Amino acid sequence: MTSQTLREARKYEETFEKRIGNEERPKFHLTPRTGWMNDPNGFSWYQGRYHMFYQYYPYESKWGPAHWGHAVSTDLLHWEYLPAALAPDELYDMDGCFSGSAIELPDGRHMLMYTGVSGEHVKYGTRESVQVQCIAVGDGTDYEKYEGNPVLSGSDLPKGGSRADFRDPKIGRKKDGTYFCVIGNRPEDGSGQILYYLSEDGFHWRFKSVLSSNHNRFGKMWECPDLFELDGSWVLLTSPQDMLPEGFEYHNGNGTLCLIGDFDEETGILKEHHHQSVDYGIDFYAPQTVQTPDGRRVMIGWMQNWDSCSIRSCDVPWFGQMSLPRELSVRNGRLYQSPVRELEKMRCNKTEYKNITVAGTVQLEGIKGRMLDMELTVRPQDPENLYQKFAVRFAQDERYHTSVSYRPRESILKIDRKFSGSRRASIHQRRSMVNMTDGELKLRIILDRFSVEVFVNDGEQVLSAAIYTDQKAAGVSFFADGIVNIDVVKYDLIKDCRTGLLAGEI
Ligand code: FRU
Repeated sequence: MTSQTLREARKYEETFEKRIGNEERPKFHLTPRTGWMNDPNGFSWYQGRYHMFYQYYPYESKWGPAHWGHAVSTDLLHWEYLPAALAPDELYDMDGCFSGSAIELPDGRHMLMYTGVSGEHVKYGTRESVQVQCIAVGDGTDYEKYEGNPVLSGSDLPKGGSRADFRDPKIGRKKDGTYFCVIGNRPEDGSGQILYYLSEDGFHWRFKSVLSSNHNRFGKMWECPDLFELDGSWVLLTSPQDMLPEGFEYHNGNGTLCLIGDFDEETGILKEHHHQSVDYGIDFYAPQTVQTPDGRRVMIGWMQNWDSCSIRSCDVPWFGQMSLPRELSVRNGRLYQSPVRELEKMRCNKTEYKNITVAGTVQLEGIKGRMLDMELTVRPQDPENLYQKFAVRFAQDERYHTSVSYRPRESILKIDRKFSGSRRASIHQRRSMVNMTDGELKLRIILDRFSVEVFVNDGEQVLSAAIYTDQKAAGVSFFADGIVNIDVVKYDLIKDCRTGLLAGEI
C-alpha cells in the first residue's frame, strides 16, 4: 500500500519536473527529478537495468526529511526517472529514510536496506535522533516496508556504540549465498567505526564484528561504508565527517577515505595496508559501488561537498548531482579510477592536435564546449629546462573560467573554480601532489555542463568539482609560463550511446 506521504511526493515530482528543461540539467550525470539530492543509494543491477536511488527531498532545493528518489539506466549514463521509492511514513523512519543499499533476493524481488531515523525525547525537552536499519521489498518500482522493521536497532550495537549515529547499511552477498552488511557507527571515543553484520536470509541479522575502527585518525563519524574485494585486495570506502588535512590528503572536511587491506572472514576484521583520498577535487562524497554483469566494480558518488552547498542558491529547481560512474581497480596497492567505458560511445567530433607548442596563451580551433572529453599529454619542450606552470582553462569567456594547472617544479596540480560564477566565498580550490610519468603529465578532463572531472595519469587521482558557470562560457585555452609541448584529443559528448544518434536527432 502506498502511503499518503509517498503519493504526495510522487505527484509533486511528476508535476514539477516538467518545469525543468533538458538543457538545464547535465547530459549524462544524474540529478534529482525535482528539488534536492544527496547520497547515491541502492545502486544495483536488477532485471536488466541499473537502479540508482538517491537521498531526496522533492519539495525544495535544500536538504529536508529524506525520501528515496529513483532512476534506472542500461548504460549508466542515460537515466530515466521512476517514481520516488520511499518516503518517511512510519514511526521508525518519520524523520527520514537515510542512506542504504539494494540487492536482488533469490525469489527475484528487489530488497532495499536503509536507515530509519526518528526522534526520542530525552531530558529537558531535547530530542535525540535514533537510527535503526530497515528493509523494503519490491518489484523495481513499488516497495513495501517489511512488517518486521526495524531489523537492526540499538540492542544490536557493540558496547558503547551510539544509537544516534548508526547508519547507511551496504548489503552484499557472500559466495555461499548468505548476506553481510557494513554500517557506520560512532563508538565511545566519539570518532567512527564500521560494523559488520551477517544474515542467512537478508531479513534476520546478527552483529559479527567491528570491521574497522577510526580511533580519531580520519575525521570523526564514518558514513556510507562499502566493502568489496578487488584485484586480490579488500577495499573499504567510507566518508568521514570533520577530517583534518594530512599533507595533501583529506583537505575537504568531509571527503571519502579508501582503506585497502586484507579481510579475515573468520574474525570479520579488516587489516589495513594503505589509506588514501578517493577524490582530490572539491566535490565528492558518500560513493557506492555496484558489480556490473561483466564483472567490473563501478563507483558513483555525490558530486558535492556538504561544506560548499552554498555554491547554488536555494531558488534553483534542482540541487545536487551524481559523479560519473568510475571503473575501479587496485594497482600497486592504490585505488585507480577511470571513466566508465560506456562513455566512449558518446564521443563524436574528434579533434586532434599533436606536439603543439604552448608559451603564453593558446586557443585551438575546434576545442571548446561544455560537454566534452579531452585528453591532454603535457611535457616540457626541453626536459632540462622545466616550465614554471601549465594551465588549461575551460568554461571560459571574458568573465569566467575554471582551470586545472600544474607546477612541475613543485609537483602540484591545482583545480580552481574561483571564477566559475559563484558569488559565495566557499571552497573553490584544491591542490594535490602529482608526479610526472616519464616526464609527462596526462589529464583526461570531462565536462558535462555543470561539472568537471579530471582523471590524472590514467586514473591515479581524480579531481571533481561542480561548476554552475553560465553555459555561454564555453571556451577552452591553454597557458604556459615557460615552453610546453602538448598533445590534445577532444571529443564532444553528445551522442546517445543507446541509439547512436546525436542530441537533437532524437
Ligand atoms: C551522508 C549522510 C548519510 C545519511 C544521509 C542523510 O551524506 O549524512 O550518513 O544517511 O546523508 O541524508
